[in-house]
Amino acid sequence: MGKLQDKVAIITGGASGIGAATAKLFVAEGAKVVLVDLNDGKGKEFEAQLKSSGAEAIFLKANVTNEEEVANIYKTTIETFGKVDVLFNNAGIGRVTPTEELPYAEWRNTVNVDLDGVFLMAQAAIKEMLKANGGAIVNTASMYGWVGSPGSAAYNAAKGGVINLTRSLALEYATRGIRVNALCPGFIDTPIIPEESKEPLRQLTPMQRLGQAEEMAKAVLFMACDDSTFMTGNTLTVDGGYTAQ
Ligand SMILES: NC(=O)c1ccc[n+]([C@@H]2O[C@H](COP(=O)([O-])OP(=O)(O)OC[C@H]3O[C@@H](n4cnc5c(N)ncnc54)[C@H](O)[C@@H]3O)[C@@H](O)[C@H]2O)c1
Repeated sequence: MGKLQDKVAIITGGASGIGAATAKLFVAEGAKVVLVDLNDGKGKEFEAQLKSSGAEAIFLKANVTNEEEVANIYKTTIETFGKVDVLFNNAGIGRVTPTEELPYAEWRNTVNVDLDGVFLMAQAAIKEMLKANGGAIVNTASMYGWVGSPGSAAYNAAKGGVINLTRSLALEYATRGIRVNALCPGFIDTPIIPEESKEPLRQLTPMQRLGQAEEMAKAVLFMACDDSTFMTGNTLTVDGGYTAQ
């Protein structure tokens, strides 16, 4: 029996990086997965890869900031798999721009994807999970939800928001079977980090390496499965020691 045997998990940002690594681990643990991403090409290719290994997986091209598209994700998931047990609320964007040059539109877009998108996906998940008497939500925040950094005002504000959204939802649904926790990654070797930034970010990390998406997936699995049944409203910071400094 896998740790997520016969569970249905929606994974946003599921075509790449941390989301894709988590999808692989979830199906290895018996889950059926719904991959949600804006990247149609990568999503379809990954869906085919998972299916060819015998997994039950579907890809849905959708934008987590669009209410109609979010509603459609849940409608299709229920039609296809009958329920939603786990939401890995992970889609995100980030870019470094000095604050004095940051167009307001870029601030809005970052907060829209990294905070509003997390809210919309969680709200829709909660509606389904209340019908089924429970579920687990794991939001991807960041170590930059805990500490600041120059040039990432919008991203860091949104990720700090995700941490307190996580606590607030956890308390609201604590007696109704829905656990809500957050992952706070450090610098992880995924496409979100530009190639030229990888070496300097490695040097900033106490362990002197970037994290791997697979290392995030194991922490997500812990929060999504019954190994963490008394954990809610909390975070796992997996950052090679960065926030211990
Ligand atoms: N890699 C890191 O160093 C790091 C560190 C801390 C937090 N994070 C967070 O981890 C999460 C996953 O990032 P990753 O590192 O795997 O990067 P990634 O770029 O590989 O994956 C992010 C995915 O999200 C998708 N996406 C973006 N906007 C979307 C939207 N509006 N709707 C649907 N899908 C959308 C992208 O298409 C992409 O496939 C993000 O929330 C990111 O902020 C990453």
